[in-house]
Amino acid sequence: MSKPAETTVIRRADYTPPAFLIDNVELEFDLVPERTLVRSTLRVRRNPQAGDAAADLELAGEALELLSLTVDARAHDAVTVHDGGLVVSNVPEAFELVIENACRPATNTTLSGLYVSNGNFFTQCEAEGFRRITYFLDRPDVMATYRVTLRADQAAYPVLLSNGNLVDSGTLPHGRHYAKWEDPFRKPSYLFALVAGKLVAREQTMTTRSGKEKLLQVWVEPHDLDKTGHALDSLVRAIRWDEQRFGLELDLDRFMIVAVSDFNMGAMENKGLNIFNTKYVLANAQSATDIDFANIESVVGHEYFHNWTGNRVTCRDWFQLSLKEGLTVFRDQEFSADMAGGATDPAAAAVKRIDDVRVLRQMQFAEDAGPMAHPVRPESYVEINNFYTVTVYEKGAEVVRMYQTLFGRDGLRRGMDLYFKRHDGQAVTCDDFRAAMADANHRDLAQFERWYSQAGTPRVAVRTAYDPMARTLTLTLAQHYGESSPQAAQTQKGPLLIPFALGLLDAQGRDMPLRLQGEPADAGAATTRVLELTDTEQSFTFVDIAEKPLPSLLRNFSAPVIVEYDYTSDELAFLLAHDSDPFNRWEAGQRLATRALLSLATQVQQHEPLELPAAFIAAFGAVLRDASLSPALREQALTLPSETYLAEQMDEADPAAVHQARQFVRRRLAAALREDWLAAYDMHRTPGEYDPNPADAGKRALKNLALHYLAELDDPTDALRLTRAQFDEANNMTDRAAALATLITLRANAPAQAQAAAQAALDAFYRRHKDDALVIDKWFALQAQQRGGAGRRTLDTVRELMRHPAFNLKNPNRVRALIFSFCATNPDQFHLSDGSGYAFWAEQVIALDAINPQVAARLTRSLERWRKFVPALREPMRAALEKVAADASSKDVREIVGKALA
Ligand code: TRP
Ligand code: ZN
Repeated sequence: MSKPAETTVIRRADYTPPAFLIDNVELEFDLVPERTLVRSTLRVRRNPQAGDAAADLELAGEALELLSLTVDARAHDAVTVHDGGLVVSNVPEAFELVIENACRPATNTTLSGLYVSNGNFFTQCEAEGFRRITYFLDRPDVMATYRVTLRADQAAYPVLLSNGNLVDSGTLPHGRHYAKWEDPFRKPSYLFALVAGKLVAREQTMTTRSGKEKLLQVWVEPHDLDKTGHALDSLVRAIRWDEQRFGLELDLDRFMIVAVSDFNMGAMENKGLNIFNTKYVLANAQSATDIDFANIESVVGHEYFHNWTGNRVTCRDWFQLSLKEGLTVFRDQEFSADMAGGATDPAAAAVKRIDDVRVLRQMQFAEDAGPMAHPVRPESYVEINNFYTVTVYEKGAEVVRMYQTLFGRDGLRRGMDLYFKRHDGQAVTCDDFRAAMADANHRDLAQFERWYSQAGTPRVAVRTAYDPMARTLTLTLAQHYGESSPQAAQTQKGPLLIPFALGLLDAQGRDMPLRLQGEPADAGAATTRVLELTDTEQSFTFVDIAEKPLPSLLRNFSAPVIVEYDYTSDELAFLLAHDSDPFNRWEAGQRLATRALLSLATQVQQHEPLELPAAFIAAFGAVLRDASLSPALREQALTLPSETYLAEQMDEADPAAVHQARQFVRRRLAAALREDWLAAYDMHRTPGEYDPNPADAGKRALKNLALHYLAELDDPTDALRLTRAQFDEANNMTDRAAALATLITLRANAPAQAQAAAQAALDAFYRRHKDDALVIDKWFALQAQQRGGAGRRTLDTVRELMRHPAFNLKNPNRVRALIFSFCATNPDQFHLSDGSGYAFWAEQVIALDAINPQVAARLTRSLERWRKFVPALREPMRAALEKVAADASSKDVREIVGKALA
């Protein structure tokens, strides 16, 4: 354990086809928690495409015990077993390889390979977990059909599941039973799955568009059956949507979702047998918030959509990960937007777009500016699990979205159709996807390749020149990368093709018709145009512009870039009030707020008195009272940019100054708009039975935002009264959790009045929900996110909670709820200048490293941006990183910490 793992760098440029192919896999499992026996029968042949026709067969294997190996039913001597697998020499052109091995699920805390959770068996094979089950060519370009036999004790493991179709089952001597599954589709090993245990299913049948009846199941532990309705409904909606939007039909007779409470990520798209973190399956009014309901719909969609984008067409190698992840995130974003009504209501679509862009800008832009910066298609890695990143997922989704912005929905569909026509059943590359888009739309997309190969966030500087005599507006766009991290700078070769959507507003705030110089006068003039910026600098001239317009830039966030344009505050307030593009209304408000907050942060640093311009308060008040805007949009517009995002905008991040500035603005907005907040609270109640639909969810979001602002008033009386009543009377988790969060804030702001109420609520909440792990996760998270107050550090609470009997370092959801919430979402308290947060972080990374390297590596990333911070924080951060570098042994953690310190 203490011996540091060797660092082997894997490079995209080194890709070679596999020396052997495996066509069929037959697996037999004797499932026993302490020691499971696996018998694997493989049809192997030399790959005619391989370079070396005499190569040995090298199989990957980790944490396995080899019991026997035969080639064509004969014992084979030329076998060398090593740390990462085995080598079989002197093999024929084609042969049957039979391997017997054992693995140890009960003590497998990595949650990769075969493991036990709450007494049941589960697998997780992506990216390289299959090699922890048996020896194999564990790479995605080796695709085979699988036949799987599961044998286990019938009483302990009544349900036995694997990919594909159930073809046989029955009883065995000694109280055991078996099930045989066959997956007719060729697949890479990372899509293999099995589940065994005491589970029950909610199920229904459904007729897909070609008239075939399919069985849909959601499998959970018996006590969770009442929380499966929403996931099953979401699955039905996802199946219908993929038929309608992309013409893609479910290809298996049976589609299963299984929930597990110990899971490293959100969910996994194993063919026909998706395995989900319970967090993205289980929901009812009493256990889940509106956001949980929306996330479940989106993740169920995501994993289902992988059946085509990932499974039917998969990745040639792991550098191509965004081929399936970027594309599938784009698909799930479009699905969620449509389900929220976005297909017919642009404002509803904008609500979803804003959520997605917020994540991109806060998380991905930061990643792209730091030591882990990498292109959407990375060039190298040490541990592939470290590259399931916001760049591969979220920026990758933006890259797919740009095809749609350039070619329209129909053009994207033509490209997708061609992609499946060419590549169904294959393992391919991002270049293959781009070629399908190019060919289907008769476009040369050579330059577009740079979106896959260049890291860093592009910037587009905008200049405008209005000529009143000629009635023209000339817009000059210049693209550059600004100051990139060394990791990103290395990859930057030239200008990108940037689809840049914009509109022009007249003095009344109306859209002006847009006609470019040279276009015929009778051509219809749209009010939003997508310019294609391809050069380093380019000018575009609009004609017949009767007055000097105000530009609305990068509408709907048409490309993942930073726009540089010097709006005045008055212009931003005008856009916030009038822009026809709902995304850009929100954007104008965020720019206005960011500007005010950053200048206040500077005043905090210089110990100057703080002041918030009256115009800012007026602009926010107008939004709050604007009944023409949906409550959901108002809530988003009135939510200030996060402390994390604001700190990222400073030359040297100063979390304490940002926190004070943001708190000051919250208190000023609370006081100045007190009557409006009270009115908003009253007007957006949702009486009657709970329903997570977007309209009601939007009302609750605005109402609970109002409550939280009221908690910032000097006099806590109103807030305390409303919050206690809401906590006691809520008929749903959204309102109950919001009330609890507000009480925790009130306790920090006004301990004398709120201490007892907050503690009573925390205790009541715990007692009521103690048997519901996902709700107890919320209880931990809310306390980890509390601000400091009354001389108490949040870290003291966190350390106390780690000793709580319900805390468990082996359960990733619990670790994320307590430790990650503190280290990654409570910047003010985590970055206390005494360095206490960093010392805690180092301790936890090292403890987790011995249990679950994937989770440990994610936590490691909380300090990777240490060079960005003010000098006083940099030194204690570096010390903590060096401690981790000295004590951590997994290659997962060592890769991150190594890059951070380099
Ligand atoms: N492919 C999964 C997805 O839908 C990601 C995933 C799930 C994963 N579990 C994992 C990746 C474990 C690495 C390790 O996005
Ligand atoms: Zn995915």
